[in-house]
Amino acid sequence: MSVQVTAIYPGSFDPITNGHLDIIDRARNIFSRVIVAVLLNLGKEPLFTTKERIRMLKQVTSHWKNVQIDTFEGLLVDYAMQKKATVILRGIRAMTDFDYEFQMALMNRRMQPSIETVFMVPAETYSYLSSSLVKEVFSLGGTVNGLVPALVEKELKRKMRSSGSSYRRDRQRKQL
Ligand code: PNS
Repeated sequence: MSVQVTAIYPGSFDPITNGHLDIIDRARNIFSRVIVAVLLNLGKEPLFTTKERIRMLKQVTSHWKNVQIDTFEGLLVDYAMQKKATVILRGIRAMTDFDYEFQMALMNRRMQPSIETVFMVPAETYSYLSSSLVKEVFSLGGTVNGLVPALVEKELKRKMRSSGSSYRRDRQRKQL
């Protein structure tokens, strides 16, 4: 039985990976409602538009009744208050994630002490997985099979076909 708590799972989800999905799956069994909240106006240039990211998230979570997909801008704690959420959920993969997550959790608590950050750990199969690595490996011809939902793999192929060469050039320039 899940507790009557709304949890916000925020992020860029560019694109959603099986690691994100694993966290959502675990969280939906603990919390009564999980809102996956996509940050609008990312500082970095995303590969997928907000609309595309939302569509993929909706499709891969549609069978989970207590999971909702939404967008937010501005402060995460303000959005959480607006949604009457008392938990901010973040996935921790390795110690390298910890410094940044620790800072964010404490800053969010300083701004809104009534909201608790809860860290969850994905299955070890996904402990090295990130959206950035998926995009890099895929853009350079590697396989991401099993690391992202099949739908996302299809969308990556489509995206690379339409903007692939420029995206690849960009990534390679950044690696230099
Ligand atoms: O998946 P990401 O990119 O690591 O997610 C980062 C995110 C969206 C959780 C973070 O950037 C965020 O909360 N942004 C909203 C603005 C905000 O509240 N900033 C203060 C955080 S202490």
